[in-house]
Amino acid sequence: MAVRPILNFDQPVLREKAKRVGRVDTSIQRLIDDLAETMLAAPGAGLAAPQIGVPLRVCVVKGDDNQIWALVNPEVVKHDGVQVGYEGCLSYPGWVGEVARYETVVVKGRSRRGKEVRIKSSGFTARAFQHEIDHLDGVLFTDRLTNIDTLKRIEELETDQQEAAVAAASG
Ligand code: NI
Repeated sequence: MAVRPILNFDQPVLREKAKRVGRVDTSIQRLIDDLAETMLAAPGAGLAAPQIGVPLRVCVVKGDDNQIWALVNPEVVKHDGVQVGYEGCLSYPGWVGEVARYETVVVKGRSRRGKEVRIKSSGFTARAFQHEIDHLDGVLFTDRLTNIDTLKRIEELETDQQEAAVAAASG
């Protein structure tokens, strides 16, 4: 495992549609381990492979009770409700903006062992999943702002909002 450098939003790989993974082999498992370690070191709530320069559909998300979900070829297969709140991105350090996301999502993908899994999540974790899956399509949170005026430095937020924003989805 290794902590890898996190790329900034101006790197072209962050604007590409990442490729689907065919087989979950040891190279993919190593990628997952590096993503998890890099996410925890940042620290962040999620991380997608393109953010460390790998254009493959792989991401990790930290759940509410600190478990780490690793997903290969993740996709939202069910959603419900809407949440509007601030989120940030490890590839856009220091900035946050208001983004509307589904409140609850069911995400389908393959696990680190190659098994098909479905994960249901709500709130912060659901926001992180949607943020990371966006990365796999070359989409950044700045593309989804409810209003451009909501893009601001973290310090400009109220303290309670800062905590929420950082906890929610620095992914
Ligand atoms: Ni991000």
